[in-house]
Amino acid sequence: MIRNEVVDEILLRNDIESLIGSYISLKRAGGYLKGLCPFHNEKTPSFVVYPQDNSFYCFGCGIGGNAITFIRQIEHLDYPDAVEFLAKRAGITVVYDNDNSNYFKNKKVDKKRYLQMNVDAARFFNAQLFADNENSRMALNYFTKVRGLSVSLIKHFGLGYAPNSFDALKNYMLSKGYDKDELVDCFLLGKSQSGTYFDSFRNRVMFPIIDITGNVIAFGGRVMDDSKPKYKNSSDTPVFKKSRNLFALNFAKNYCKDTMILCEGYMDVIALHSAGFNNAVATLGTAITAEQARLMSRYTKKVLISYDADEAGQMAAKKAMKLLTDVGLDVSVIVVPDAKDPDEFIKTFGKEKFNKVISSSKSKFEYNMDNILSKYNINLPQDRVNALNELEKMISEFYSKAEIDVYIQQVALKLQVEFKSVKTDVERIIRKRISAQLKTEAKNYKESSMGYGDKINPDFIKAPSVAKNEESVLGLLLVYPEHRKLVFTKKLLSKDDFFTELNKRIFEALETNFLNGTDGRDINEFFTPEEVGRIVKMKISRMSLTENGEDVLFECIDSLKKSIDKKYFEKIDNISQLKELIESKRNN
Ligand code: UTP
Ligand code: MN
Repeated sequence: MIRNEVVDEILLRNDIESLIGSYISLKRAGGYLKGLCPFHNEKTPSFVVYPQDNSFYCFGCGIGGNAITFIRQIEHLDYPDAVEFLAKRAGITVVYDNDNSNYFKNKKVDKKRYLQMNVDAARFFNAQLFADNENSRMALNYFTKVRGLSVSLIKHFGLGYAPNSFDALKNYMLSKGYDKDELVDCFLLGKSQSGTYFDSFRNRVMFPIIDITGNVIAFGGRVMDDSKPKYKNSSDTPVFKKSRNLFALNFAKNYCKDTMILCEGYMDVIALHSAGFNNAVATLGTAITAEQARLMSRYTKKVLISYDADEAGQMAAKKAMKLLTDVGLDVSVIVVPDAKDPDEFIKTFGKEKFNKVISSSKSKFEYNMDNILSKYNINLPQDRVNALNELEKMISEFYSKAEIDVYIQQVALKLQVEFKSVKTDVERIIRKRISAQLKTEAKNYKESSMGYGDKINPDFIKAPSVAKNEESVLGLLLVYPEHRKLVFTKKLLSKDDFFTELNKRIFEALETNFLNGTDGRDINEFFTPEEVGRIVKMKISRMSLTENGEDVLFECIDSLKKSIDKKYFEKIDNISQLKELIESKRNN
């Protein structure tokens, strides 16, 4: 167990506003801050940070909590790792209580050991590239002569060579004291059905993948001829998630404040860095994910997509554009002419020409417009109407009104129609969409306020009025220490006064803290992030009310006790019957 005081100290020293502010941009609105939720895609901010309470809550997806919950969610860490993460950030050493500590300690050692294992493997591959033998010379020749990389560039990226052998890496790593199975865990060895272990990468030139803190976490390996598969990449391991890392972000992060270049391949990135475009990154053998988009938005404002010129590349560019726009990034697209990819372009035409391509990059609007127009012959009336419809729909999806007007102007000009008629059309599309949105929102709101489909507190629907009263009481207890003191010392409530299981657990956690003399201590670790979200919502609903004194507390306790007339809902075993009953109660 992590010591209580340590957790308290960590929460105290990690000011929530600057912590969350380092991931997303927040705007002040009265006593709180608002921003776009990093946990679901949205265009209007419903993510709120409350500095007074050191908490956050998203009204869109319901996730909320304190600094630890936030880091758990955004960095995908479990509770102890999130605590370690924040401790490191605040310069605190985590102290573990003696009992129960083995689990966490072992776990920590494993991760460090896995990272060390990857560094040792990278060193081995790198040494092999410069070794004095026929195969190694061939590999080095591949990089320098075939691909035109300088030795200093090879060293900068830590490139290597995996020998043409089933046990070269295995023997080396075993001699270093690693165990075969942990090497399998890190994808460095494979294990056959008959139980033999063998090197995963054989006769391939190697690209180490390095995370933002400089740890080697995985590898990609390329064949030196036309055999298949061209690249082999580590699959996910305990220290590597493909979908959450980008090749060369460890270098690019220092050069991308304004713009980042996103490519498809390792070699594109290396060619770009070598030509002075240090802000280039690539995904790791897969299409870009929302997590990678979010990661990029932490380091830059604008992304220049520079994918392969072929059709597959351009399809992928369109998908990337959507994901990147969804996290609030400004996006442009470049397509290199007369070359299959940025690597080939730079090597054929040089960096000056690449700069020219960059300056002619198309904005999201221009890129989409050209794509749409290329499908139609705008001299034919019907084609012109179809193109116009598509363009209007596309424009209607932009957020800024000024931007929309500029695009309407361009489309009107291009298709020779009146500005006013295009504008009327676009506005109609927007209105229609908003009204559809409002309808679903109203429906969702109605359902959630009645407790239907509540996955976080599934008991809610069985007795909504009880659950609501529970939440009022818990809100008061969560926010006000004086109310806790009163309720717990005078035993005004017991856990049996709570009907829903979740709320009962929240009450018990608060009570346990109080009885242990640790009143006010963080209870979040006993709840899932979604449940923590609910807890924060209870607090926030309370804090937004002006009357929270003792009278209100007594009133709430009284209503709770009255509403928990168990005979009333224990008789009911059929949900639809229950819904009817609730409706009739509501109408009376
Ligand atoms: P490309 O086929 O465009 O390769 O795949 P490339 O980067 O241009 O490589 P060179 O120039 O032929 O050496 C783009 C990226 O897709 C992934 C790799 O990350 C590659 O860099 N990929 C490709 C794979 O993971 N496996 C493959 O078999 C092929
Ligand atoms: Mn390519």
